Amino acid sequence: MRILVLGASGFVGGALFAQFGARHEVVGTSRRGGSGLVPLDLADADAVRALVADYVDVVIHTAGIVDLAAAQRDPDAAFAINVAPMAALLDAVEDAGAKLVYLSTDNVFDGTRDTYDETALRTPINVYGCTKAAAEHRVLARAGHLVVRLPLVYGRSPRSNKFLARFAAPAVEARTDIVGTPLYLPSLAPLLEQLLDETGVVHLAGPEAVSRYDLLTRVRDRLGASARIVPTDADSGPPDCPRPRRLVLRSVRHPLTGPDIDTALADLIDPASPLSGR
Ligand SMILES: NC(=O)c1ccc[n+]([C@@H]2O[C@H](COP(=O)([O-])OP(=O)(O)OC[C@H]3O[C@@H](n4cnc5c(N)ncnc54)[C@H](OP(=O)(O)O)[C@@H]3O)[C@@H](O)[C@H]2O)c1
Repeated sequence: MRILVLGASGFVGGALFAQFGARHEVVGTSRRGGSGLVPLDLADADAVRALVADYVDVVIHTAGIVDLAAAQRDPDAAFAINVAPMAALLDAVEDAGAKLVYLSTDNVFDGTRDTYDETALRTPINVYGCTKAAAEHRVLARAGHLVVRLPLVYGRSPRSNKFLARFAAPAVEARTDIVGTPLYLPSLAPLLEQLLDETGVVHLAGPEAVSRYDLLTRVRDRLGASARIVPTDADSGPPDCPRPRRLVLRSVRHPLTGPDIDTALADLIDPASPLSGR
């Protein structure tokens, strides 16, 4: 299979690029290119069309503005990168006879329900979630493509260390009142591979519902890092962005989950693990 990974310099895209690259013919992009990646700005519709036409059976789209606070500060930029390029990208993918796999987020929901499966309506409460919901809408308006909603993703990634880098700080703030079903990054590519023939929306998440504080404390402990995990909640200070409190993703379409957190953390610290993204 020929796979194009948009955003292959990123945390999620870097892992998919490496793991799919071991089994398939894969090209990856980032804005600047280099390190084996092709330069591509999503806003350049001609470049998107040329690259997709040149290549591809499946385009996995992981690129864009993912920082919730950054999106909230500059909604125009977030829409320009996360939403505006979608029409040209979908046209290019369809002209090439390919399929788009669009990575989305649990932040398309408001966090007021106990759980969310694929039948739940989108109810975003922050700019990031609105951009992802709008992009999903564009993908799902065409037939034959796939939207994969992910929770918080954790673990080591070959090209972007953003999840683990925080533990180098002396203190890390973590919300006790935000609960989710985090997914271990190295499990994503094998799970995604099993869903590539699907269309519409699928949820992919870990099996455990935990708070951010619990997750970061368990990761810190397993790493043996000295960072202090400082519990915070909605009352701890002015919010940088409205954040849904409870995002427990479930699926009515498949039984797949990532590993439980203890299994994932054993993999994370195992230098011999084939999955750990080293
Ligand atoms: N990380 C999570 O916990 C999480 C959770 C749920 C869903 N997701 C979804 O997973 C996907 C990837 O997230 P991530 O955490 O891996 O993000 P990330 O680390 O911030 O990576 C974003 C990627 O997008 C690229 N990019 C940004 N603006 C671009 C533009 N204008 N043109 C082309 N490329 C551009 C970046 O390339 P440069 O190298 O040029 O900056 C980078 O490769 C996103 O769709 C996100 O919504 C992530």
